[in-house]
Amino acid sequence: MGKSIVVIGSYNTDMVVQAPRIPSPGETILGGTFSMVAGGKGANQAVAAARCGGSVTFVARLGDDMFGHEAIAGLKTDNIDTSHVICLPDAASGVALITVSDDGENAITVASGANALLMPDAIEKADDALSGASIVLTQLETPLETIRATLDRCQALGVPVVLNPAPALPLDDAVFASVAVLTPNETEAELISGLPVSDVETAKSAGEAILAKGVSTLIITMGSQGALLFEGGTCTMVPGYPVEAVDTTGAGDTFNGALCVAMSEGKTWPEAVAFANAAAALSVTKLGAQPSVPTRADVDAFLIAHTS
Ligand code: RIB
Repeated sequence: MGKSIVVIGSYNTDMVVQAPRIPSPGETILGGTFSMVAGGKGANQAVAAARCGGSVTFVARLGDDMFGHEAIAGLKTDNIDTSHVICLPDAASGVALITVSDDGENAITVASGANALLMPDAIEKADDALSGASIVLTQLETPLETIRATLDRCQALGVPVVLNPAPALPLDDAVFASVAVLTPNETEAELISGLPVSDVETAKSAGEAILAKGVSTLIITMGSQGALLFEGGTCTMVPGYPVEAVDTTGAGDTFNGALCVAMSEGKTWPEAVAFANAAAALSVTKLGAQPSVPTRADVDAFLIAHTS
């Protein structure tokens, strides 16, 4: 059993419509069945870490509304410690409007609501959890000042922070030197490095530029191709697992949650990234963010089936 993982971040209720393709601006297209599912990058990562076997505490803010109450019930079903998930009066819970195309791609618009009210005081209030954590995982769907407060407090406590810089946002260079592991996708790696990323070679160049900002371990996720791992002066492509993509929503979140579990269990870096690749691959085979997050048994069986 790994040690505790604290995930700090967003919760959204995802309103999902499947459609033949993503509509262009100003266009109306007829889609398929509507579904409402649990999502939000932070919550998806917390659920992935919990289902993969981590002992997880989630720090988040919700509205004191139907979505907020359902969110807490769902997180508890996944055995996540919700003592730092607070419903704020007069705030609306976060909502994401998602179109998923027939080829599994998505377009997402987020109404942040209470996620925008996760302020640095939440980090002070969660100090007991941070002090006992083996890893803290966070992303960029909540205010940057809170992410800075997280990095400062974790540095003082000696707790490593995994930062998934999603969605892509400009960050101060000071942030990079204080994260233990940075996990951008190709778009985010482009924004951070200022270099185009279209294949493994260009991702390597972008990765070198990001490392020069002071990041110690960098993992650039590259969808079904796998992930490029920069660690200890080496760069390794850890291959992904080709699967039939139904919906890629939350695949990056699943990768990050699973990665933290593997890290907390002391797996080697290539093993940890392969484990996270397998969890992410399984997640794209089903519709919806949290409904598609696999269990530990699913990931272990998938890895056995795909190891020659
Ligand atoms: O990363 C996927 C998530 O992004 C969705 O669940 C949606 O809520 C948005 O936060």
